[in-house]
Amino acid sequence: MNASITFEDGQLRVPDRPIVPFIAGDGIGPEVWDATRQAVDAAVRDAYDGQREIAWTELLAGERAHQETGSWLPDETLTGIADHLVALKGPLTTPVAGGIRSLNVTLRRELDLYANVRPVRWFPGLPSPLRHPEQVSAVIFRENTEDVYAGYEVPAHSSEGDTLRSMLREAFGWELTADTGIGIKPVSEHASKRLVRAALRYAQERQRSRVTLVHKGNIMKYTEGAFRDWGWEVVREEFADQAVTWEDCDGEPGDRILVLDRIADAMFQDILLNPDQHQVIATTNLNGDYLSDALAAQIGGIGVSPGANLNDEEGRGLYEAVHGTAPDIAGQDLANPTATMFSAEMLLRRIGWGEAADIIESAVERTVAAGVVTGDLAARVQGTRAVGTREFTDAVLGRIG
Ligand code: NAI
Repeated sequence: MNASITFEDGQLRVPDRPIVPFIAGDGIGPEVWDATRQAVDAAVRDAYDGQREIAWTELLAGERAHQETGSWLPDETLTGIADHLVALKGPLTTPVAGGIRSLNVTLRRELDLYANVRPVRWFPGLPSPLRHPEQVSAVIFRENTEDVYAGYEVPAHSSEGDTLRSMLREAFGWELTADTGIGIKPVSEHASKRLVRAALRYAQERQRSRVTLVHKGNIMKYTEGAFRDWGWEVVREEFADQAVTWEDCDGEPGDRILVLDRIADAMFQDILLNPDQHQVIATTNLNGDYLSDALAAQIGGIGVSPGANLNDEEGRGLYEAVHGTAPDIAGQDLANPTATMFSAEMLLRRIGWGEAADIIESAVERTVAAGVVTGDLAARVQGTRAVGTREFTDAVLGRIG
């Protein structure tokens, strides 16, 4: 019988036929969703001999929701995800007109999905500008609710700008000229701590031996520097037995997690020069934005980069590829479904169906290693021929079971 996943005592309880909502999405969304659904259903069948099955249920958002219901993000979609805890989401067109804010930002904010999680890992067959791409295997935890992304901004030459500037002049003596746009960068203790906590817990659960706190605390002391300090508080107060600093352990962490701390600009050098030094990266929103795209470029780009937006404390997770709707290739059988397949693989691991997740991962890896790739990768790997979305999906399905 189909049943909902529940969250009790900090654990997801998953029935054999869990109801999992999906949003097919706009642009290439329906094509990569269709491919992913086939791969997930086949992998689950293969892993559990038909004893388990995902009961997919569709929710609407984006252009299709707008056409069918008049709303870009119907209330039922938000409550559907909140009620069922985990969901798979395709890319959504950001409406340009009418002052509607990004649907993705709204979803993350309404569901308080505070950690954006992006694994980046190279495997044979993926193009990379690095000489040793096999050293790249990291998971980025990017804070998802604060920083300059929170949307507290006023334009230059505006009455809101004038009001804010005069408040700043009166309260702090700060002189800003009328041609200055102003954005506020909030970084709070509770949001920083829960993000670092989630990263450390992940490292513990997945046996990752290093966590790096990335910040620009040398310059922005009360925001980025505070993120670093609060992060260290979590390490020392909540993970004292499981995590250590380099100094505290003289470079001998044993089976404890080694926690490092890097200034963001040095980190960009490090991921090129010493990518094997970093396994789990915890950082503020803007640093995480740049860092995840830079790392994705090292392992084949956005066509293969999965992601998740999580709230560990409430058991919620929205799994989605990093890429957008790719309107330039939509409906042409050109899209790479790997990023969405890997997002579904993350979802399967989260609900404890690791065997099915392993099957998808292995089938995609063997397909790519055999030189069967879509155009986004074929253009960068010598001697490969590009196949379409459907042919790629058939090749993956042929390697399951
Ligand atoms: P995009 O990621 O859609 O496309 C950038 C480039 O990458 C394009 O050349 C595209 O063809 C290519 N590409 C993307 N995914 C691919 C895949 N799976 N296989 C092969 N090639 C792929 O980014 P863009 O053009 O900036 O945004 C297009 C629309 O998507 C906008 O409306 C934007 O707001 C939305 N968007 C939505 C996101 C989401 O829902 N999570 C994330 C990013 C953008």
